Amino acid sequence: MIKVIITGSNGLLGQSLLNLLLQDSTAYQVIGFSRGINRSGRDDFQYVSIDLTNSKLLEEHLLKLQPDFIINTAAMTNVDACENSKIACDALNVGVVKSLVAVVAQINAHVIHLSTDFIFDGAQGNYKETDIPNPLNYYGVSKLKSEEILKNATIDFTILRTILVYGKVFDMSRSNIVLWVKEMLEKKQEITIVNDQFRTPTYVVDLAKACKIAMDKRSKGIYNIASNTLLSVYEIAQQIAAVFELDASYIKAISTSTLNQTAERPMKTGFDLTKTKKELNFYPKSFSEDLQRFKENGVK
Ligand SMILES: NC(=O)c1ccc[n+]([C@@H]2O[C@H](COP(=O)([O-])OP(=O)(O)OC[C@H]3O[C@@H](n4cnc5c(N)ncnc54)[C@H](OP(=O)(O)O)[C@@H]3O)[C@@H](O)[C@H]2O)c1
Repeated sequence: MIKVIITGSNGLLGQSLLNLLLQDSTAYQVIGFSRGINRSGRDDFQYVSIDLTNSKLLEEHLLKLQPDFIINTAAMTNVDACENSKIACDALNVGVVKSLVAVVAQINAHVIHLSTDFIFDGAQGNYKETDIPNPLNYYGVSKLKSEEILKNATIDFTILRTILVYGKVFDMSRSNIVLWVKEMLEKKQEITIVNDQFRTPTYVVDLAKACKIAMDKRSKGIYNIASNTLLSVYEIAQQIAAVFELDASYIKAISTSTLNQTAERPMKTGFDLTKTKKELNFYPKSFSEDLQRFKENGVK
């Protein structure tokens, strides 16, 4: 039996991982760490209510539980909030990784950590795992710092970088691009979407699968996880309208220069998935195929 701790088990990826790993309760003993009450809608796993930035408490729990794997999904993911609250951002996105590394060195666990396309400046696009990062905003800086901590440590780790994650789980603290566009179009409200930023969005069910594959294979190093076709955010919204059979005329294209966002965003990201396909045997599909599956799966 593999003992796995999922940090941020109340989050989008955290809950998706619970749903995936608990399908095989003979193989995995799953423990969720998140703040406040358990909001996953499940009670068939051990839940620890914890503020992960409390390093002493985190250490105590980890030493007691002695996990084989820690999948670190918890993060401050609101890019503008990270820009405005750098100390809080660092405490979670960097400080927790430092704490994990310090304890993991004592208990010999493997850390699977989530990172982002926002470590890149978006000048080039289609990034390989080996490309040189150059974050434009503090969220990206904090995630790059977290990667550096792992790379400089002498522990087993996997970094899964991902892009624009969407999906639906039981009780969500925040929305995502697909749910938001769908909701606005259902309400027949006009939305303005940038047509000059490019992404390869990621279905959370696939991201959870990739975490499981990395764990099962004990793969180490950095892997890119996203869908396989680069689209503008405007095209992404158009495809959401098409798959959910909603009126796309409410979607208006705008350019990034007309937005006044606190944190700068990279214009063109997207990942080269060659290493992921070859080493993880994980073959991402197109956004429209993933969206169709999401529609059929409903909340899964
Ligand atoms: N979402 C994306 O588009 C995206 C893109 C690239 C990379 N990533 C990375 O993928 C990972 C998973 O993202 P996600 O979308 O699943 O994030 P999420 O839905 O925001 O989940 C994060 C979870 O961590 C919990 N948390 C926050 N602060 C905590 C604390 N101090 N102590 C304990 N728990 C805490 C949150 O609790 P509350 O629910 O109470 O807030 C939330 O449940 C993150 O590392 C993120 O950086 C995400």
